[in-house]
Amino acid sequence: MTDLLLDMRRTHTCGELRLGDVGKEVVLMGWVQRRRDHGGVIFVDFRDRAGLTQIVFNPEISEDVHQKAQIIRSEFVLGVRGKVVARPDDMLNKNMDTGEVEVFVNELKILSHAQTPIFQIEDRVDASEIIRLQYRHLDLRRSKLQKNLIARHTAGRATREYLNDRGFLDIETPFLTKSTPEGARDYLVPSRVNHGSFYALPQSPQLFKQLLMISGFDRYYQIVRCFRDEDLRADRQPEFTQIDMELSFVGEDDIMEITEGLIKEVFKRVRNIDIQTPFERITYQESMARFGIDRPDMRFGLELCDVSDIVKDANFKVFASAIKNGGIVKAINVKGGGGVDGSSSGMSRKEIDELTQFAAIYKAKGLAWIKIKEGEWQSPIAKFFTEDEKSALKERLNMEVGDIIFFVADSVKVTNEALGQLRNELGRRLKLIDSNLYRFVWVTHFPLLEYDETEKRYQALHHPFTAPLEEDIDKLESDPLNVRSRAYDMVLNGTEIGGGSIRIHSTELQERVLNLLGIEKEEAQEKFGFLLNALTSGAPPHGGLAFGFDRLVMLLCQEESIRDVIAFPKTQKATCLLTDAPSVPTMAQLQELSIKVVKIEEKS
Ligand code: AMO
Ligand code: AMP
Repeated sequence: MTDLLLDMRRTHTCGELRLGDVGKEVVLMGWVQRRRDHGGVIFVDFRDRAGLTQIVFNPEISEDVHQKAQIIRSEFVLGVRGKVVARPDDMLNKNMDTGEVEVFVNELKILSHAQTPIFQIEDRVDASEIIRLQYRHLDLRRSKLQKNLIARHTAGRATREYLNDRGFLDIETPFLTKSTPEGARDYLVPSRVNHGSFYALPQSPQLFKQLLMISGFDRYYQIVRCFRDEDLRADRQPEFTQIDMELSFVGEDDIMEITEGLIKEVFKRVRNIDIQTPFERITYQESMARFGIDRPDMRFGLELCDVSDIVKDANFKVFASAIKNGGIVKAINVKGGGGVDGSSSGMSRKEIDELTQFAAIYKAKGLAWIKIKEGEWQSPIAKFFTEDEKSALKERLNMEVGDIIFFVADSVKVTNEALGQLRNELGRRLKLIDSNLYRFVWVTHFPLLEYDETEKRYQALHHPFTAPLEEDIDKLESDPLNVRSRAYDMVLNGTEIGGGSIRIHSTELQERVLNLLGIEKEEAQEKFGFLLNALTSGAPPHGGLAFGFDRLVMLLCQEESIRDVIAFPKTQKATCLLTDAPSVPTMAQLQELSIKVVKIEEKS
């Protein structure tokens, strides 16, 4: 067998050479990033995962090699031997780590030819994401994506080391399993051996990790793939990765301390950023009151303020009737957004209309506003308020000349959601967000249950194994919606990066909760009988948490989409453009599984 490389063995990467290497004979291997022909001398930016080095083909060094180099083009793969030379002062490149040197090539092996790539391999690409995902092998050559995946590797490594050092065991759990209740749809896999039966891919290892605690493993973790068939967004993929953990004989404080330590370690190792611990904690109730949502971005103010008590009898029917119907009126004061007479008029009608349309996405029926001017309010609704109401609003909202106030009146749910989202939008538009800040917050005491209007029954907000708060257990049957749970989310800059809870470890309490969820004894046995049985065999108090690893890495890399930190992600329609998955199986495959595909007519 001939070895194409022959005696050529790489001595350095393309990111490595410095002034101290001048004079050395080196061998580099990599790709042609760019080729420039300068009056007979050919310069190539030569690339591998570590970086770029300028290599030079000069007929004065070797006529042969220079001749051979004529055919090389972008993305050719080369092996080169040559001498490291200091660049002349006027040729230094400060933007390149290796910019003080270049390599004068005296031996060239063309290891692979390449067709002209469909897009240039540069950080800034004009190609659409569709093209980039179709040609992901090229896209992944871009240094930005390479850096992201290296950061992901470092984050994973730091996680394993941190948890290994603290007595956690890495234990695998099945992918071909039974439905796990995280609230999304399951991906099903047909069984060939058992016709008509299907495995479900796990939405998380939740039940298995609880079983491991009951088996006595004490501390478990896994960096594990989870599968959820749900509507996709920038921070959601059908298969994604969790740092999943579970601990025995612990309470909330223990879990928070250990996971904060993990985050601190990961930020230090990946970004060399010192994160301050412990993190701030707020209850779900406080989060909803102040920010309207349960994953608040704490990097800026613009908090929501409830003014229902002030405007409940106002002449503005929209406000008064919202409250009469059990809703609320909340407001945000945008300081300086109303403009000061003579210098600026503040937000324009166009901007206010855009914000109104934005709030409408979240079902707000309108967005009332007041600009606070010298001696008067400029507003379509000012005329509806009495002097008393005005002065109460002024005090509650700390109104000052130059401010603009936005109001939403609706059900509690719509008001919070619309104003909470509007707050984030205002933060972005008004550039109130410092993208270099990392503000962590724990959101605690989520409600145990929520009422599903379409299904007309209660649902677990987290999952059915989450423990209720001790002091609320009495209210389970009498006032279920006001039972708080021992669930907590870790939120970073407005993204939920992790969530978990202390679990129920008594059969009796578990059955009470399943009962509330309308899951009958029989159904419970059928669905998670194995867990219920295990609970009767001596279960330690236990709890845990799972981080969304992709989301964490996305934020570490300051990316906007988790697709940019996943090597082979799927599209919004859950397809893989590279492999064309999902695809239609052959008749033979279907027959073997005893499956017939029938098209169900869509109901009109
Ligand atoms: P949860 O459902 O909150 O909890 O998931 C944990 C974390 O996983 C991330 N995440 C996702 N990331 C990308 N794409 C998705 N489709 C997706 N769905 C969730 C989020 C989330 O915070 N078994 C429990 C954990 C526990 O109780 O220990 C669970 O899975 O960042
Ligand atoms: P209208 O009386 O419909 O002309 O509305 C007067 C102002 O109140 C407009 O600025 C609307 O955007 C606003 N508005 C209407 N409905 C609501 C609502 N539910 N909450 C807040 N503002 C509203």
